[in-house]
Amino acid sequence: MWPWYYCGQLTAPVLTLVVGGNHEASNYMQSLAYGGWLAPNIYFVGYASVLRFGSLRIGALSGIYNGHDYLKGHHERPPYDRSTMRSAYHVRNVDTFRLKQLTPDMDIFISHDWPRGVYHHGNVEQLLSKKPFFRDEVESNKLGSRPAEELLKRLQPRFWFAAHLHVKFSALVQHEPVAGDGSAANAADTSRAGDVDAEKAATSGTAAAARTTRFLALDKCLPRRRYMQILELGDGPTELSYDLEWLTVLRTTDHLTSVSAAPQYMPGPGCNQRFDFHPSAEELAATTAAWGADLLVPRDFAVTAPPYDGHSDIRCGRQPAAATDPQTSRFCARLGVRADITLDCDRTLDPDGGGDPAEIALDEDEDEDEDEDAMFVIDRRGTGVTPVTLAVTPASPDVTPVTLATPAKKFKRRNQAIYGAEADG
Ligand SMILES: [Fe+2]
Repeated sequence: MWPWYYCGQLTAPVLTLVVGGNHEASNYMQSLAYGGWLAPNIYFVGYASVLRFGSLRIGALSGIYNGHDYLKGHHERPPYDRSTMRSAYHVRNVDTFRLKQLTPDMDIFISHDWPRGVYHHGNVEQLLSKKPFFRDEVESNKLGSRPAEELLKRLQPRFWFAAHLHVKFSALVQHEPVAGDGSAANAADTSRAGDVDAEKAATSGTAAAARTTRFLALDKCLPRRRYMQILELGDGPTELSYDLEWLTVLRTTDHLTSVSAAPQYMPGPGCNQRFDFHPSAEELAATTAAWGADLLVPRDFAVTAPPYDGHSDIRCGRQPAAATDPQTSRFCARLGVRADITLDCDRTLDPDGGGDPAEIALDEDEDEDEDEDAMFVIDRRGTGVTPVTLAVTPASPDVTPVTLATPAKKFKRRNQAIYGAEADG
């Protein structure tokens, strides 16, 4: 179905926000590192972001946590090798560092993997009855993302939504009440300036109200699984806007953007450079001066790659070269920041598309978690979807309309019985 959304033949009926996980097209996501439209009405948040929708302030963090790659810059570039194909979607400390600079008045936060320890705030025994193989990690408090846990404690959003573990689970996180001057969450994190904030809070003698976060993870999108829940939140105009504070943090921390695989530690107390990037009024004004007063996210999606035609064997192709999406170029030029994917890296791409020793054919790769041959079957009965002709947007005149074949449906072998029952029913 995706090519139809990409080309605009189908349009998402409601504005849809996407955070990256560990099974996405990393090259497309890296080309939209600061966020952008994946398709009309489908917006990818980038590595990390804060957005406004009506009265809601929404934070987001893409990827999954892997301690081996956390301190590195975003050094991966397509064509990926076996290692970078996986590490490309690992969370980096520069992105969580930027999120930690924000005023903790977040309504919603979205991540792919769960904050570590959040299962201790819900019915953990029910969770383990559904997923008994989580028990060791739960009991040792190793399940989930450590940086997401830090963000949960620091930002204390009203709601936190996640996925990844393929099970529905809800929790109510009661944050520790912190005395302070309104920046209560600042004292929750002692990894950066937390000690300073805690000291300020203690000396101010004021008390902030304890906050709660309602956590919700949903199951995989499969028949008879609990993968959808509707919540009515917020009001105001249904337009997507940038967050001025987030734009300012991106601007003032641009020098921390790295494309090196070497460890890069974020500045902290005691170092000889600035480490607190919570924006001042002057910095917010400077961002407005650079960016302009209009914070609406422009609807500037354009097709940038030949759409999949439904016929090609996508696992026998060659990976495309690294590229920056025009949306990213416009965003960076307007804000005055650098797109990391355009910075120098240690890999030279062949402009003719051949001869790069780092390039691998997709069909040589292995599935990340499991033996794919054992796990997948091809359903050649089709999906019952009528073939459609793609109407390619005028923004891509070199792409000719194509007729999509009914795609073969590919799914894990263990779900075959479910699909079979569904199709027959
Ligand atoms: Fe996942």
